[in-house]
Amino acid sequence: MSSITNLINRYTKSSGNQSTKQIILEATAFLVSQAVLFYGVKWVLQSLDPTKKKRDETKAKASQILDRLGLKELALNEYEEIIATEVIFPDDIPVNFSDIGGLDEIIDSIKENVIYPLVYPNVFSKTSSLLSNPKGILLYGPPGCGKTMLAKAIAKESGANFINLHISTLTDKYYGESQKLVNALFSLAHKLEPTIIFIDEIDSFLRDRRSQDHEATAMMKAEFMSLWDGLVSDSNSRIIILGATNRPNDIDQAIIRRMPKRYSVQLPNVSQRVTLLKLMLKDTKIDENLDLEEIAKRTNHYSGSDIKELCRAAVMVPVREYIRNIDKDLNEAVIDTNELRPVKLEDFFPSEKNDDFIRNASVELD
Ligand SMILES: Nc1ncnc2c1ncn2[C@@H]1O[C@H](COP(=O)(O)OP(=O)(O)OP(=O)(O)O)[C@@H](O)[C@H]1O
Ligand SMILES: [Mg+2]
Repeated sequence: MSSITNLINRYTKSSGNQSTKQIILEATAFLVSQAVLFYGVKWVLQSLDPTKKKRDETKAKASQILDRLGLKELALNEYEEIIATEVIFPDDIPVNFSDIGGLDEIIDSIKENVIYPLVYPNVFSKTSSLLSNPKGILLYGPPGCGKTMLAKAIAKESGANFINLHISTLTDKYYGESQKLVNALFSLAHKLEPTIIFIDEIDSFLRDRRSQDHEATAMMKAEFMSLWDGLVSDSNSRIIILGATNRPNDIDQAIIRRMPKRYSVQLPNVSQRVTLLKLMLKDTKIDENLDLEEIAKRTNHYSGSDIKELCRAAVMVPVREYIRNIDKDLNEAVIDTNELRPVKLEDFFPSEKNDDFIRNASVELD
C-alpha cells in the first residue's frame, strides 16, 4: 500500500523530468509483482495441503459419474462430490433378480410396494398420497441368505439411482464434517431422484444410541434422522433408504420405526433349497440320477451361501480327479470340460475315505 502511495506522490510531484509513461510502467510492474506474490503464496499453501490430492481425485471421479448419469451440468458442492463417488451403475453390477433363488415372493413384493411407486410415481400418487413410496425398507435375517445380493439386484434392475453408502465415507473426515456429509447425502439424493440409498450392515451405524456415543457421532445420527423425517413428511420425495442387517435387534427403535417395510430373509426351506441347487448347478454337468431333493433334505439349516459352498466343493471333486490323472505338466494342461465326469451325490457328501483332504484340514483347524 505504501508503495502505491509513493508512486502517487512521485507522480504528483513530478515536474516534467519523469514521464507519465515511466510511472505507468512502474505501476504495472508493481501490480504484476503483487499478483505473482499472491498466486505464489496460494500455490505453496495449496501444495502443502495434504487433502488436496484426494479432493482433486474425488472431484474428477464425481464429474465422471455425473457424465455417466448424463447430468454433466449438475452443480455439486465439495461434500456432494464425495457422496457422488458412492453411486453405483447398473451395468457394473453382475447380479439380476433371476440369479436369486427362493426369494420370489420377497422380490415381487419389493417390486410392487417399493420400486414401482418410486420409479412410476404418477401411477400411484394420483390414486392417493398414501400410496407414495415407503421411505425406509429393512432386509433382515441370518447371515448368507441373500440380503446384500438382493440389494445389488435392486440396484441393477430398479431403474432408480443407487447410492451404496459406506458409513466410513461419513465418518472418515475430521470433526464437524460428518454432519455436512450427511446433509450432502440427502441433497445429492434429492438432485438424483429417484434415488435408493443403501446402507449394508445398518446396525453398525444406527445401533442403539448410547450415552457413551462420541458427541460427533451422536450429532451425525441426529442429523441423519431429522433429514430422514424430512423425507417421510414429503410425500413427493422419491428417495428410499434401504438397510440390511443380520442383527435387527441391535438397531435403534426410532430407526426401525422409520423403516415401515421390513422383509425377513430367512434360511431357505426344503423347496427353496431345491431351487437354489438348480440355480447354482445350472452350468454344471451333473449325473442324470443326481437327486437334488435328496441333497435339499440333507441340508437342513444351510444358508444360501452354505449351499453355494457345498456346490463349489462338489463340483471340485471331478476336477481334482481329472488333475490327479494328468501326466502332463500342470502349466500346459487345459481342462477339457467334456472329459470331466458328471457330478454325483457322493461328491456333495463325501465319505470318510475320499474326504481325506477336508478331514485333514479340519483336524489342523481344531
Ligand atoms: N437366495 C440366494 N440365491 C442365490 N445365491 C444366494 C442366495 N443367498 C445367498 N446366496 C449366495 O451367498 C452369497 C452371500 O449372500 P449375501 O452376501 O447376500 O448374504 P447376506 O444375507 O447379505 O449375509 P450377511 O448378513 O452376512 O451380510 C451370495 O453372494 C450368493 O452367492
Ligand atoms: Mg450382507
